Amino acid sequence: MADSPYPELKKSHVPERVGRPWTDHKPPPSSPVWAVIGGLGSFHVLVAALDMGVFDALSNRGANPGIPPEVTAADLAEGLGVSAPHLEALLDSLAVLGLLERVGGRYGLNDTAARYLTTDGPASMSSLVPVAPGPLDNWSRLADTIRAGRPAEPIDDDPAEFYRPLVEGTFTTILRAATRADLQVRYSAMTAPRVLDLGAGGAPWAIAVLKACPEATAVINDLDGVIEVAQRTTAEHGVADRCEFRPGDFHTIEIEPEAYDIAVLGHVCRTEGPEGAQRLIARAHEILRPEGRLLLADYFVAPEPQWSPHSTLMGMTMMASTTNGFPITAAQTANWLQEAGFEHLRLIEPIGHQYAYTATKPRRPTGQAPTTPKEPPPGPARST
Ligand SMILES: C[S@@+](CC[C@H](N)C(=O)[O-])C[C@H]1O[C@@H](n2cnc3c(N)ncnc32)[C@H](O)[C@@H]1O
Repeated sequence: MADSPYPELKKSHVPERVGRPWTDHKPPPSSPVWAVIGGLGSFHVLVAALDMGVFDALSNRGANPGIPPEVTAADLAEGLGVSAPHLEALLDSLAVLGLLERVGGRYGLNDTAARYLTTDGPASMSSLVPVAPGPLDNWSRLADTIRAGRPAEPIDDDPAEFYRPLVEGTFTTILRAATRADLQVRYSAMTAPRVLDLGAGGAPWAIAVLKACPEATAVINDLDGVIEVAQRTTAEHGVADRCEFRPGDFHTIEIEPEAYDIAVLGHVCRTEGPEGAQRLIARAHEILRPEGRLLLADYFVAPEPQWSPHSTLMGMTMMASTTNGFPITAAQTANWLQEAGFEHLRLIEPIGHQYAYTATKPRRPTGQAPTTPKEPPPGPARST
C-alpha cells in the first residue's frame, strides 16, 4: 500500500472502517487508569512544592529557564529548612510531571515553572492551584454525592468561606483573560462605559475594563464576606474610586434597568444550575442599555464532552461542592442568551482554557419607549 498521511487508515480494524460498537483485538494499555491514580498524588506534589516555596526558592538562586540547572536537592533543602532526601523525591516527581528541569541531579525552573508557578511569574497560577478543585473532602465523597443527588457538605451553607480563597486564587488568571479579551471585544474603544459585575469575586473583569477606559465606572456585586476582596483588588489596581460596591444576592439586589453598557457574569452560571443561570441572564438583559454587551465567562462543555475535557471536569468541580452546580454546555448557554433576547453571540477564548460568550442587547427600534423589564423565570427561594 502507498504511504498515507493518515496511518490509522492503513489498519483495517478501526472504528472508522468497521463502525461501532468497536473493540480492539489486543488488550488496551492500563495507562489511562494509572494516569487517574497518579492524579491525586500529582496534585499534592505540586501543592506541597508551592506551599514550601520551591519554585520561588529556585528563581531566587538564579535558576532560569534555558540555563543549565545548578542547584542540588541538598542546597535547596538547606535553604528551605526541610529534609533533603524527602525534598529530592519531590523534586524528581516535579521533573517527571514536566514542572521542573532536572539535569545530572541538579534542578532548575523550566519555562512552565517560570511562567505559571513562581509567585511573580508573568501568568502566575501559584495561588490558584491549591484552591482550584474546591474542598478536597467533597471529592472523596463524590460517590455519596451522586447517590444522594447533593453534596454531603455543600458550600452553599457558607458561601463566603468557600468563595473568598477561591476568588483570591483565581484573580490573576481571570484578570489576564479579561485583559486579553479586549483584543476580541474592544471594550477599550468605549469612551465611558458603565459596568455591572455580578458575583464579581475580586472583580477581575471590571478591573480590566476600568483600566482600559479611564472614564469607565463600575458597580461591583458579591456576597458580604467576599466583596471585601474586590474592595482590596480595585484599590490595588487604582480603580476603587470609580467603583460602587453593592453587596448582596445577585438575584435580588436592586439594579437600575437599562443603565449599563457592559454586564459581566463571570463563572457564576455554572454554579447556579439552569434555572438560576437563566434568571441571571434575564437580569443582565434587563439592566443593559440597548446595544449594551454581556460578557458571560464560564467553562462551556462541547457537544461531545470529550472534546472539552477541561470544561467537563471544571463543571464536575461545582457539582462536587454546590447544590445546583453542573457542567453547562456551550449550546445550552447560547440558547439561554437568545431566549433572553440577546443577539450577535460570539464565543471567545482570550487565553488557554478560559472562555467567554459576548452577546449584545438589540438596538431599540426608533420611536419605541424603554420596555418594562421582562419577568425572569421563577427560581427557588434563595438564602445567602
Ligand atoms: C467562581 S467565582 C467567580 C468570580 C469572578 N466573577 C470571576 O470571574 O473570577 C463566583 C462568585 O460568585 C459569587 N456569588 C455566588 N453566589 C452569589 C449570590 N447569590 N449573589 C452574589 N454573588 C454570588 C461568589 O461569592 C463568587 O465570588
